[in-house]
Amino acid sequence: MSYILITGASKGIGKALAHELAQKKQNLFLVARSENELKALAEELKSRHPIDVIILSLDLSAADSAQHIADYIAERKLSIHTLINNAGYAVWGNFESNSLEEQNRMLWLHIQTVVNLTYLLLPFLKKEKQAYILNIGSTAAYQAVPTLALYAASKSFIVSFSRALHFELRHSNVSVTCVSPGPVNTNFVNRAGMQAIAETAEKFGISPTLLAQKALQAMYAHKTEYVPGFSNKLGVFFATHFPKKLVEKVVATFYKH
Ligand SMILES: NC(=O)c1ccc[n+]([C@@H]2O[C@H](COP(=O)([O-])OP(=O)(O)OC[C@H]3O[C@@H](n4cnc5c(N)ncnc54)[C@H](OP(=O)(O)O)[C@@H]3O)[C@@H](O)[C@H]2O)c1
Repeated sequence: MSYILITGASKGIGKALAHELAQKKQNLFLVARSENELKALAEELKSRHPIDVIILSLDLSAADSAQHIADYIAERKLSIHTLINNAGYAVWGNFESNSLEEQNRMLWLHIQTVVNLTYLLLPFLKKEKQAYILNIGSTAAYQAVPTLALYAASKSFIVSFSRALHFELRHSNVSVTCVSPGPVNTNFVNRAGMQAIAETAEKFGISPTLLAQKALQAMYAHKTEYVPGFSNKLGVFFATHFPKKLVEKVVATFYKH
């Protein structure tokens, strides 16, 4: 039996991706920390669709987490045809005021775990007829964002890494896509403590279901990079074509801590 592995599947975008993929009768391997939420989701999906769902409660900011997943897959002789690197959150505030430990945890989750998991799962993906890697970036990737300095920088890493990997694997069976959403109405803003922008983010935000549908369309269309929505595309155009200092001033005002 072959599975789709989704990190950060207990809530928000990851959970919506799980629902969308279950509808497509895909077997799922769901990873996040919240065991109860994963259990409830697995039960719901299995009761509604003819699929198998494996759950693994794991802190993906732990150094050995990717190896733990790879060992779990190898020991049970599972097949994996799609890897979705989605787990993430933002640490908001000035770099020097935020806890270094917390910022390093976020960086490990967004960068090192994505790198390690991708590296360790590529041999499994290569065994499949067609395989996919979907990485969730952010529109924050396209400019420096004061008060979200490391979040934005880590998402720039994801976009750049995904593009290079897409190119390197272009003649293989593995297609790599990076989807960079703007605001999506999930727990993300609350988790980051960004109450000041919660209302605006919600106003411009799309539902996690719509984002999941668009992300999967992009992935199955073998797109390299995809920014969903006209206003987000416009924002990325502005961020990449206007003077950087101006762009940073505008985003700094928006994300003021
Ligand atoms: N929402 C937005 O506006 C937005 C915009 C652009 C990009 N994104 C990106 O979209 C992705 C998903 O975010 P979301 O909006 O769905 O946020 P969310 O609703 O807060 O969900 C985040 C998911 O990541 C998991 N997660 C967080 N830390 C983890 C850890 N240490 N180990 C394992 N899992 C962990 C959470 O599970 P547990 O808490 O159970 O561990 C949860 O399932 C993130 O990469 C985020 O950067 C979101």
